[in-house]
Amino acid sequence: MSKILITGACGQLGSELTAKLREIHGNDVVVATDISDPNPQMGDGPFEHLDVMKSGQINEILGKHQVSVIYHLAALLSASAEQKIDLAWDLNMGGLLNILKAARDNQIEKVFWPSSIAVFGPDAKKDGTPQNSPCNPTTVYGISKLAGEQWCAYFHRKFGVDVRSLRYPGLIGYKSLPGGGTTDYAVDIYHKAVQEESFSCFLERETRLPMMYMNDAVKATIDLMNAPAENITVRTSYNISAISFSPEEIADSIKKEFPDFEINYNPDHRQEIAASWPNSIDDARARRDWDWEPGYNLDQMTKEILENLPAFWDIKTV
Ligand SMILES: NC(=O)c1ccc[n+]([C@@H]2O[C@H](COP(=O)([O-])OP(=O)(O)OC[C@H]3O[C@@H](n4cnc5c(N)ncnc54)[C@H](O)[C@@H]3O)[C@@H](O)[C@H]2O)c1
Repeated sequence: MSKILITGACGQLGSELTAKLREIHGNDVVVATDISDPNPQMGDGPFEHLDVMKSGQINEILGKHQVSVIYHLAALLSASAEQKIDLAWDLNMGGLLNILKAARDNQIEKVFWPSSIAVFGPDAKKDGTPQNSPCNPTTVYGISKLAGEQWCAYFHRKFGVDVRSLRYPGLIGYKSLPGGGTTDYAVDIYHKAVQEESFSCFLERETRLPMMYMNDAVKATIDLMNAPAENITVRTSYNISAISFSPEEIADSIKKEFPDFEINYNPDHRQEIAASWPNSIDDARARRDWDWEPGYNLDQMTKEILENLPAFWDIKTV
C-alpha cells in the first residue's frame, strides 16, 4: 500500500496534520518523520528520524515505505531564522530542493509545501494583499519562502512534479507549542489566560496580522491536496486567509471568557518583522479554484481553545 510521508511532523502544524491524516487514511498509512522525537499529539503510527538536509536519508525512507505523497513541513520559522540565518537558508532552501528532487526521481504523485505571508514585505498592499502582489521580503525567512515558491513552480513546469502550496498566515493551535514564529504570541496568550496569569506581549497593541485556527489550516491543506490537478491555477503558492486581529483584539476576545485577564505590551525585535507583513490577505483564487472557506472567526477560535486547553495541560503534566 502506498504511503503518505510528513517531514517536520513533530512541529506545531505537523503534529495536528499527522493526527488528522491518520484519522482519515489509517495510522499505518501515514509515516511521520522529524529530527525530533515523536509526541502523543501525532497519534500512533510509523515514525522515522529523518533530517531533510540529507538527501540519501530521504530516498532511503521513500523507498522503504513506498511513499506516494509528501507533506514537507520541516523549516526554521521567521523569528528563529533571523537569529540563525545560515541554518535558515540551508534548511528552508536545501531541505525543499532535496524533497523536490526526491519527488521527481521517485515518481512521487503529490507534494505539499507551505509558504507564508512573510513573502510579501513592506511594498505589498497592506489590506487585502492580492495574490500577485509585489514581493520584497525583508527577512531571511521571507526570502527563503519566496525562492521556495519559485522552485515549486519550476519543478512543476520543468519536471511535472505536482507540488502544491499555501501562504499560511500565523497558525494558532493549542495542542502543541509554537516553534519560533512572529505570531507565536497568539498561541502563548491562551496558555497564560487558562493559567490565570497576565500576558506580556512582544508585539504592539495595534499590530494587526492575518491569522488562522489550526483546524482551518489542516482543512485547507487537505482540501488543496484533494483538489483535481486541473483546478490548481497557482503553482507558486496560494494566498489563504481566515481572520485578522491585533493583540488588543485577541485579548478582548479572551476577556469575554476570562473578564480579569490582563495584557501588557513589551515589543521586541519581532515587532519589526510583524510591521513588514500585511494586515489582511485576499484569497479569492483559493476560494474560486478549490472552494476554500474558513470555518472559525476570532471568538469561535477563542472559545474552542479555552475550552480545550485545560485538558491539554493535564495531559502534559501527568
Ligand atoms: N506556524 C506558523 O504560524 C506558520 C506560518 C506560515 C508558514 N508555516 C510553515 O509551516 C511549516 C510548519 O511550521 P510549524 O509551525 O509546524 O513549525 P515548527 O517549528 O513547530 O516545526 C518544524 C519541525 O521541523 C523539524 N525540523 C527542524 N529541522 C529539521 C531537519 N533538518 N529535518 C527534519 N525536520 C526538521 C523540527 O524538529 C520541528 O518539529 C513550516 O514550513 C513553516 O514555515 C508555519
